[in-house]
Amino acid sequence: MKTLRLAPDESGLATAAHLLRRGQTVAMPTETVYGLAGDARNGEAVAAIYAAKGRPSFNPLIVHVAGLAEAEAIATFSDEARALAQAFWPGALTLVLPLRTDAGIASLVTAGLDTVAIRVPAASAAQALLRSFGGPLAAPSANASGRISPTSAAHVLDPDGGLDGRIAAVLDAGPCPVGVESTIIGWEHGQPLMLRPGGLPSEAIEAALGRPLAQHHADPSAPSAPGQLTSHYAPKAVLRLNVDRPEPGETYLDFGHPGPLTLSAHGDLAEAAAHLFDLLRRADRLGRPIAVAPIPEHGLGVAINDRLRRAAAPR
Ligand code: TXA
Ligand code: MG
Repeated sequence: MKTLRLAPDESGLATAAHLLRRGQTVAMPTETVYGLAGDARNGEAVAAIYAAKGRPSFNPLIVHVAGLAEAEAIATFSDEARALAQAFWPGALTLVLPLRTDAGIASLVTAGLDTVAIRVPAASAAQALLRSFGGPLAAPSANASGRISPTSAAHVLDPDGGLDGRIAAVLDAGPCPVGVESTIIGWEHGQPLMLRPGGLPSEAIEAALGRPLAQHHADPSAPSAPGQLTSHYAPKAVLRLNVDRPEPGETYLDFGHPGPLTLSAHGDLAEAAAHLFDLLRRADRLGRPIAVAPIPEHGLGVAINDRLRRAAAPR
């Protein structure tokens, strides 16, 4: 398969929507990371997503829709869920909610669960594609399973382990401004639960809810619902975290100081999140062990540290 590289203009969007209607897969830029989109109502299109990624089929996918009205046709919203959607959509927030029986979503999307993960992306190219396609798009991050998530079209097509030749097209809208995946929130016995830290800080969500989020502690050996495999975002190199002084021979990802591979010279967490996956890829290409400076554990730092711990996990 030859992978088309499309601009997010009228003609590129029309081509992408046409391919999606035919059940093909298209890499879609969102504000968080590039997603590998397919028609969420078409089981074969969803199977093609899993096949292109080499993804274990027990790991359910996020459904992307254009707005809250479209989301309410797929999932059942509690008052609290609706309040979060109104506060943060479009944006880097995914809600895990009961799946409506008349949702029309292919069962492969939810891996047979009776809940569905759903979000409204903010990126203008994603919004334009959803409106032009006119339906829900299932989209996991557009990387081979277990590898670092892509924050540019070049990452999606990376000759070393990317999806070039495995997908119909990539819509190239430049780098993703947020740079880490969406924050995933669910509910258990009526309690809101942080399922995955991400591009929307938990402090903002707790402020909107007016109560704290419970933390979800997944059993790493049993990626049941959230599919949070401990070893994930895996570079080839060995990674050491919270390093103030790198050893000779280590590639150093700095934070808070200028340098060739700094996450943010000024210690800005949003900038560090936006650079994280690109810097991990660049450091990995140098072929040496990687050491990473300490990142503060608040705001977007929570998602950054979560991804770094997964990248450093033994595998
Ligand atoms: O920012 C993002 O969230 C990106 C962009 C493309 O939207 N997508 C993304 O998808 O990160 P993915 O497939 O790489 O991660 C989706 C996560 C997985 O950990 C999956 O197990 C979880 O969402 N998930 C999906 N459906 C679920 C459900 N019904 N219950 C619990 N977790 C679910
Ligand atoms: Mg992913």
